[in-house]
This record gives sequence, structure tokens and C-alpha cells, in this order.
Amino acid sequence: MSSILILGGAGYIGSHTARYFKDRGRELVVYDNLSTGFRDSVKNITFVEGDLHDTRGLERVMERHRVDAVIHFAAFSQVGESMVNPEKYYYNNLAGTLSVLRAMVNQQVQNIVFSSTAAVYGDPVRIPIVETADKKPKNIYGKTKLIIENILKDYEGPYGVRSVCLRYFNAAGAHPDATIGESHRPESHLIPLVLQAALGQRDHLDIFGDDYETPDGTCVRDYIHVMDLADAHYRALEHLQRGGASAAYNLGNGSGFSVRQVIEAARYVTGREIRAEVRPRRAGDPAILIASSDRISRELGWQPKMPELDRIIATAWEWHRTHPDGYER
Ligand code: UFG
Repeated sequence: MSSILILGGAGYIGSHTARYFKDRGRELVVYDNLSTGFRDSVKNITFVEGDLHDTRGLERVMERHRVDAVIHFAAFSQVGESMVNPEKYYYNNLAGTLSVLRAMVNQQVQNIVFSSTAAVYGDPVRIPIVETADKKPKNIYGKTKLIIENILKDYEGPYGVRSVCLRYFNAAGAHPDATIGESHRPESHLIPLVLQAALGQRDHLDIFGDDYETPDGTCVRDYIHVMDLADAHYRALEHLQRGGASAAYNLGNGSGFSVRQVIEAARYVTGREIRAEVRPRRAGDPAILIASSDRISRELGWQPKMPELDRIIATAWEWHRTHPDGYER
């Protein structure tokens, strides 16, 4: 039986997607160098520890597990870090993906679902953002993703590699059974930080700027549940395996919440006091990012099942409450 190779499958979005596929009876193998991922996030799933740059290693896994499709999450994803250490991003995200594509071409694996990002757009001209909008990434992270989207287009004609690029907006939440969730070392994402403050693990949350042109002055983002992202990967892969055409899709809920609204929702969900202090703006933050996901709804029938911010935060809270130290014991 053929199987799906999930690169970076021990990371946050990768592990939720791996679980989603596994629960639907799909054969899969997770490949991850554990630089930011956790072995415990993919318990009971076939796992190979390896690096993207090891083309031969990737080819061996593809051969041994009869891989016929790749889902590629393996990337560094911190916008701020990408600006101070671009080499890390170009070497891993870009050179690493070229190695993956070489292995795919050599092994005649022709389907790939690629993790892209809202960061490919830069400062949006119009809200909500549609897929055809200008792409002017403001940071190196977004640039690496946009370059790969373009490379994927070039690999279709000569090598028959078809791709779906999924441009995530702000992934959030955890598996509803709270056995896996979001954990980064160090943590930089808003919702986990807010919940750490709720747990008393940090004194307060820093609000990065309250002088943006938004209703309450803080940045507005489109938070999308990680299980809804997992479902989009499932549909994208089925589409490719049915012979569907290459495409790029936004993934968001189409509604935006400010940093202050997120803190307020977390106070409500957790019943805890969460202190917040306003700090200067963080470099590279667009004021508002909200997705139009009409294209994937229309073409792949995808609809978010957990669009409500309170519910997204409630699933994240259940994970943080029961795993205050993440995957570390
Ligand atoms: N924020 C704070 N305080 C914090 C952390 C974040 O005010 O301590 C603010 C940020 O300034 C931003 C918002 O909360 O306005 C969300 O910040 P995150 O760091 O959680 O997420 P980003 O929107 O910066 O980035 C995320 C992913 C990127 C991806 C992007 C796409 O981390 O990889 O979404 O929208 F590119």
C-alpha cells in the first residue's frame, strides 16, 4: 500500500494533520529532524528522524514506504528571526525544499501539499485578501515561501509534480482531546503566550503596539483552528490524488480579531485574570490580515468547523491547562 510522507510532521500543524490522516485510516510516515518538533506529538505514528538536506535519506524513505505524496510542513516560521538570520531561512526553507523536490523527482513522487503563509502578501491593499492579490512579502520568511510557490510551478511541466500551496493565516487551537497542542521553544505566538499568562507562568502579556489604524489600535488577525487546517490538507491531497490541477488557497475564517479582543476572549474562556501591558510595535507586523477562503470553499468544499474564537481558545486552553510544560516532562 502506498503512503504519505509528512515532512515536519512532529511540529504544531504537522502533528495535528498527521493525527487527522491517521484517524481516517491513511498510511503515513512522519519525517522530522526534531529541531522544533516533538517526538511525543506523533506517538503511534511511523516516524523517521531525518533532515531535509539529506536527499538520499528522503529517497530511501520514499522507496521503503512506497510514498506517493508529500505534505511539506518542515520550515522555520518566525518572522522576526527571519529578518535577523536570513541564512537560516534560505538554507532550511529554500535549500531544504530543493532537496525534497530532487528526491521527489528522482523517485517519481508527483503530488505535494506545501505549507505557505499569509506572509506572502505583505501589507494587503484590500481586505479580505484574495489569492490573486499582489504578493510583496515584508519579511524573509514570507519571501522563502513565495519563492518555493514559484519553483513548484516550474516543476510541473518538466517533472509532472503537481502541488497545492496552502496559505495559512494565524493557526491556533489544539486537538479537541487535548493530547496534542501548540508548543514552541521559545514561545512567540499570541494565544499560547496569553494562556501562559492565564496559568501564571508569565506575569503579563506584552501588547506590541496600540497605535495601529484598527478599531482598538492593536493588530487584527484571522485565527484559524488547527484541525480546520488539517482538514484542508486532507482535501488538498485527495484533490491531487484524483488528478486535480495545481492550485494555491488561502486558509482563514474571514473574520479578524484584535490583540485586545484575543486577550478578552481568553479572560472569558479561562476565567483567569490576564495582565497586559502596551509596548512598542514589533517590526514587520502588518496592521490587519484577514483571508478570503472562498476559493477553497468553492473548489474543494472546505468549510471551517470551529470558526468561533472562544472555541479556538477553549481547545488551546484545555491543552495548556493539562500540559503546562508542553511536551517536556
Ligand atoms: N503579539 C503581541 N504580543 C505578543 C505576541 C504577539 O501583541 O507577545 C501580537 C503580534 O504583534 C501580532 C499578533 O499578536 O499582531 C499575532 O502575533 P503572532 O506572533 O501570534 O502571529 P503573526 O501574525 O505574527 O504570525 C503568524 C505566524 C507566521 C505567519 C503569520 C501569517 O507565526 O508564521 O501568522 O499571518 F506568517
